Amino acid sequence: MCGIVGAVAERNVQGILLEGLKRLEYRGYDSAGMAILSEDTRLNRQRAVGKVSSLEACLQEAPLNGNVGIAHTRWATHGRPTEGNAHPHQSGDSLAVVHNGIIENFETLKTELEGQGYVFTSETDTEVIAHLLAREFTRSQDLLTAVQRALSGLGGAYALGVMHKGEPGVVIGARKGSPLVVGVGIGEAFLASDPLALLQVTDRFIYLQEGDVVRLSPGGRIEIFDASGEAVKRPVQVFEHGDGLTTKGEYRHFMLKEIHEQPQVIAATLEGRLGERGVLVESFGTNAESLFSRAKQIHIVACGTSYHAGMVARYWLERYAGIPTQVEVASEYRYRSVVVPEDTLFVTLSQSGETADTLAALRFAQERDYLGSLAICNVPGSSLVRESDLTLMTQAGPEIGVASTKAFTTQLTALMLLTLALARVHGGDAQRQVEIAAALRELPAIANQVLALDNEIEVLSAAFAEKNHALFLGRGAHFPIALEGALKLKEISYIHAEAYPAGELKHGPLALVDSEMPVISVAPNDELLDKLKSNLQEVRARGGELFVFADEDVAIEQTEGLRILRLPHIDEALAPILYTLPLQLLSYHVAVLKGTDVDQPRNLAKSVTVE
Ligand code: G6P
Repeated sequence: MCGIVGAVAERNVQGILLEGLKRLEYRGYDSAGMAILSEDTRLNRQRAVGKVSSLEACLQEAPLNGNVGIAHTRWATHGRPTEGNAHPHQSGDSLAVVHNGIIENFETLKTELEGQGYVFTSETDTEVIAHLLAREFTRSQDLLTAVQRALSGLGGAYALGVMHKGEPGVVIGARKGSPLVVGVGIGEAFLASDPLALLQVTDRFIYLQEGDVVRLSPGGRIEIFDASGEAVKRPVQVFEHGDGLTTKGEYRHFMLKEIHEQPQVIAATLEGRLGERGVLVESFGTNAESLFSRAKQIHIVACGTSYHAGMVARYWLERYAGIPTQVEVASEYRYRSVVVPEDTLFVTLSQSGETADTLAALRFAQERDYLGSLAICNVPGSSLVRESDLTLMTQAGPEIGVASTKAFTTQLTALMLLTLALARVHGGDAQRQVEIAAALRELPAIANQVLALDNEIEVLSAAFAEKNHALFLGRGAHFPIALEGALKLKEISYIHAEAYPAGELKHGPLALVDSEMPVISVAPNDELLDKLKSNLQEVRARGGELFVFADEDVAIEQTEGLRILRLPHIDEALAPILYTLPLQLLSYHVAVLKGTDVDQPRNLAKSVTVE
């Protein structure tokens, strides 16, 4: 859960590495560091606790200079965020390594290496890699061989960048279980955990596969070897998203920009996938139709916000496609004795496609008797996409804010397309499918109307800034939307927030309701509204202040202690997507009022590539 950048260039690489780290900060940001090999082959290193800006300040004081380097932004797993634990880690003054992932057998290796005289200066698992590599280099006098031999003894997950002053001009990369791409420059070559880090220097990438080792050397030479050590060719792919997507533009925060991009990215996710009679099943892949027609059950597995998208999909798949669906968090699923009914389709949801638990769940599922696997993902070339039978790409573009917004609503959009595709092949209500497809086409425009309520939502947010707790309520497919609303609020404003299905209020949480506990309710005008209305009365009767997000037609009057924000009317099937938007804006404005770090909230990382 860290970010790696590496470069073998024809110019000083400090600026390239630093810019790369800034773009990778979403992967972790408790400390950062960089090592550059100088022209006279000295390994110079700078490390700093805190965000990349702290490292930048150090580099301004004492710049590094050289054409070959590696850098890292860290999110601590082994050892506190201190300068000594920050990467790159070195073995003496000859070898430096950056690592993303976890080495599970590091204690055994550490004991062995200490016995051989290697001195450890950090509390990290990564330092064993540095000494192991140095030992193997001493034996082989060849960095590639040293890396290949060392890797055979490493358990766990890693993406690595390595350099040695005995082989100036060379950076070696390796991946197993953590992402790593090679950036193809002109006479230059780069490494990074994510193409985003390198869009400043190239838009051409090679996505390394599991077990690959790559050697970058001067002149832009790139040699790739697979897990068995065979030289292999991997395709060069041109990155699809423009670099403009990685800057804040006119917005104060990436999160706000990404919230406002939703109409556009929802439209992009629908593009080419809706025909006259509804969804184009072929857009899921050539063998989708036959796989979908055989699917009698669905298991959906995901983490965090993506899991909430899966929960919404369960309501949709059962209601509109008539397919029994189970949804589970990946970290639970992968350790359960899962019973797989015959003809079950396995679906993963992930913004990054690299979340360790989700990836492990897919691999676990592949060993069981599933019909096949479908990944709904936002990152082309990610591990999840490569390893699944079918993929449906969301078109959210790079999401930089750690709190997921546009990735979630595009996942929901993709999940509604999946629902319609399954409904279609299973002979569901054709008229209803046409109606929902028509509503999907109108969704971007209606989403824009909701975003225009931003100022009103900002006014509401003032009521939360001084509160320590909040309760979110929803029913049916809006219960997961309430969960997502609560998650957003806690992630970025640090206000403790819980979500309940509205009907559960009386079974416990009602005891918490008083004037200090704002209650937020999502109340679109659907069949459950009347029931929700009586839940709302229960809250009012206990002095709780209520905030209701409701359809413009809902007959609830604003009174003291009951504030209503009216949303434009939408087909009830799509209301969960639309009602997400005001909750995102509410969390955003509360966080801004509280002065928290909106785009990089404390203790979190955007992409969690460790278990
Ligand atoms: C992290 C992020 C969340 C995200 C979750 C799953 O915890 O902070 O925003 O929902 O990972 O990520 P994925 O990339 O698999 O959707």
